[in-house]
Amino acid sequence: MRYIIYLLFWISLATAQLITPIPQEIAHDKEKALLGKKLFFDKRLSRDNTISCSSCHKLYEGGDDNRRFSVGIDNRIVNVNTPTVFNVAFNIVQFWDGRAVDLKEQVFEVLQNPKKMDNDLNKLVEKLKQIKAYNRMFNFIYPDGITVNNIADAISEFEKTLITPNSKFDRYLNGEKDALNKDELKGYELFKSYGCISCHNGVNIGGNLFQKLGVMKPYIDHTNNLGRYNVTKNEDDKQYFKVPSLRNVALTAPYFHDGSQKTLEEAIKNVIIYQLGRVPNVDDINYLKTFLHSLTGEMPSILKEAK
Ligand code: HEC
Ligand code: HEC
Repeated sequence: MRYIIYLLFWISLATAQLITPIPQEIAHDKEKALLGKKLFFDKRLSRDNTISCSSCHKLYEGGDDNRRFSVGIDNRIVNVNTPTVFNVAFNIVQFWDGRAVDLKEQVFEVLQNPKKMDNDLNKLVEKLKQIKAYNRMFNFIYPDGITVNNIADAISEFEKTLITPNSKFDRYLNGEKDALNKDELKGYELFKSYGCISCHNGVNIGGNLFQKLGVMKPYIDHTNNLGRYNVTKNEDDKQYFKVPSLRNVALTAPYFHDGSQKTLEEAIKNVIIYQLGRVPNVDDINYLKTFLHSLTGEMPSILKEAK
């Protein structure tokens, strides 16, 4: 009996620390963030002035585009599902396979990716130098004016403002015990007892480790994305992906890196099968879904200001 009490104590202590609330703000440079915001919405970042970051990451609708696969330049279809840009500053690395080590590297990738913006970095700098407003803003902030590095830097600062605090769940974590209703609490209990929390934890409830998709049952991936193996070329990393953040997950259907899961219920059902090797039941799926809905936070305040 005493052993069980100790065990429960340690389990509760361990899990109590596992998820932390999103802070109200993270340190950033306001001027850079406002410049980054302008760049984020600017189609001139793409080779032919047709695609901006916001073409695929719709900031007023959850930070993704709710498509299975986004459409980039010249109607080229990207072959991996677009994650939200909300709360990306909390991820340890960027992209499903983690190939960008930070937010700046992520920007270099997307500017040049032939399916996304297909731009030449030097040509982009020349293009922006023709625009008076950008010259003024960059020169005001950066001694070396418009450079690729400064473009990426400004966008990264903007991304640090794209955090979504004060979800019901965060209010609960911050001590407002009635912020979650009975069903949401039941869902949170299941989230812990099923062991979802062993992979989805930290401030982003994900985004801090790689895990295999299909740990308990082989998963057939129709996009043939080898995940972390793309970066490490280590056989053991095949089909490992960055565990996605579950923040605002109610807004970001469809799910999985291959966009195969149309609804949140379907995604939950299949993680229970493929990640936990258990038989899903409708009641538990519904409670878990109710809990996941409580993770929707407030829209970043920088978006409430005029574009
Ligand atoms: C054509 C659609 C498209 C455009 C345009 C686009 N993205 Fe993305 N974005 C994606 C896709 C798809 C992924 C996932 C790619 C992967 O993991 O391999 C992604 C991933 C990201 C991530 C990593 C998120 C995570 O959780 O790993 C960030 C950050 C991001 N994009 C920011 C931006 C910024 C900033 C811009 C503009 C400079 C931009 N994106 C433009 C489609 C797009
Ligand atoms: C062994 C680690 C692991 C466990 C346990 C786990 N997950 Fe996940 N989860 C992942 C990984 C990895 C992905 C991304 C799979 C992919 O698309 O490559 C994922 C994806 C998801 C998604 C889709 C998110 C998106 O944006 O595409 C949801 C929702 C989800 N998990 C919820 C849960 C719930 C609820 C549980 C518990 C019932 C759970 N997970 C248990 C690792 C795990």
